[in-house]
Amino acid sequence: MAQAKFDFTGRTVLITGGSTGIGRATALAFGEAGASVVIGSRDRDAGEQVAQEIERAGGKASHLRVDVSKDDDVRGLVEHAVATFGGLDVAFNNAGTLPPTGSLTDQTVEDWHRTLAVDLTGVFYSLRHEIRAMLDNGGGSIINTASVAGLIADPGMSPYVAAKHGVIGLTKAAALDYATQGIRVNAIAPGLVRTPMIDGWMNDPEMRDTVLGYSPQQRVSEPEEIAGLVLFLASDLSPFVNGAVYPIDGGQTAH
Ligand SMILES: NC(=O)c1ccc[n+]([C@@H]2O[C@H](COP(=O)([O-])OP(=O)(O)OC[C@H]3O[C@@H](n4cnc5c(N)ncnc54)[C@H](O)[C@@H]3O)[C@@H](O)[C@H]2O)c1
Repeated sequence: MAQAKFDFTGRTVLITGGSTGIGRATALAFGEAGASVVIGSRDRDAGEQVAQEIERAGGKASHLRVDVSKDDDVRGLVEHAVATFGGLDVAFNNAGTLPPTGSLTDQTVEDWHRTLAVDLTGVFYSLRHEIRAMLDNGGGSIINTASVAGLIADPGMSPYVAAKHGVIGLTKAAALDYATQGIRVNAIAPGLVRTPMIDGWMNDPEMRDTVLGYSPQQRVSEPEEIAGLVLFLASDLSPFVNGAVYPIDGGQTAH
C-alpha cells in the first residue's frame, strides 16, 4: 500500500536547480520512482547529463535551461513540462544561491538583490506558473527548498536568511490560497548538505569546524538523505500535509 503511493508513474515532476546537489539527487529518486522528470537548471550540460542518467536507468526526463530570477524563463519551463509530458503534478522549487559571507553592512546592494531575486522571487515566479498549470490539471503538490536559515539566523548571510524566511512565508500563503483546490504547498528546511553550495566552507578547515559545530550529529547530510522527504511530501502518503515546514537538519534547530 505505502509502496504503491510512492509510485510516481504517469506523474510529471518539475525540479529547479536539478543539475547538482539536492536537486540532482531528488531528480534521480523521482526518476527511479517512475516519474517523468523535467529539470530546469542554469547549467545546460549538467542538467542534460542528469536527464540522460534518468533515461539510461529506464526513466523519462527532459532538461531546459532556466534562470529562475526571470519570469519568462520560469513560464517557459512550466509550459515545456506540460507540452512534453501532458501536465504538471509535482514541483520542487529548489534553485538557490548564497551571498558572499559577511556582516550585514558588508553585504552589497547588488548581492542583496541577486540573492533575493533567485532565492525568493524565483520561488514566487515558480509558484504562480506551476499553480496555474496544476489548477488546469486538477491539483498537485509543491515543495519549496527553504533552509534552517529560514527558521533561525546564521551569522554572515543576512540576504540568504531574509530570503529563506520569505520562502517559508510564501509557502504558507500559497498553501492557504489553494487549499480547497487540490494543491498542497510545503517547505523543507535542510541543515548542512554536502553539495557544491557548501564546498567552499568544507574545504576551509576553520570554517568546516565552525559549521560542523552547528550539527548535533557532527556531520553534514548527503543530498540523497533530503530526497526521501521531498518524495514523501510529493506523494499520496501526505494528503493532509499543507503549509508545513519540515526541518531536515540532524537536530540543528531542536535546541
Ligand atoms: N547545501 C546546504 O547545506 C543547504 C542547506 C539548506 C538549504 N539549501 C538549499 O538547497 C537548495 C539546493 O542547493 P544545493 O545545496 O543542492 O546546492 P547546489 O549549488 O548544488 O544547487 C543549487 C542549484 O541552483 C541552481 N541555481 C542557482 N541560481 C539559479 C538561477 N538563477 N536559475 C536557475 N538555477 C539556479 C544552481 O545551478 C544549482 O543547480 C538551495 O535552495 C539551497 O539554498 C542548501
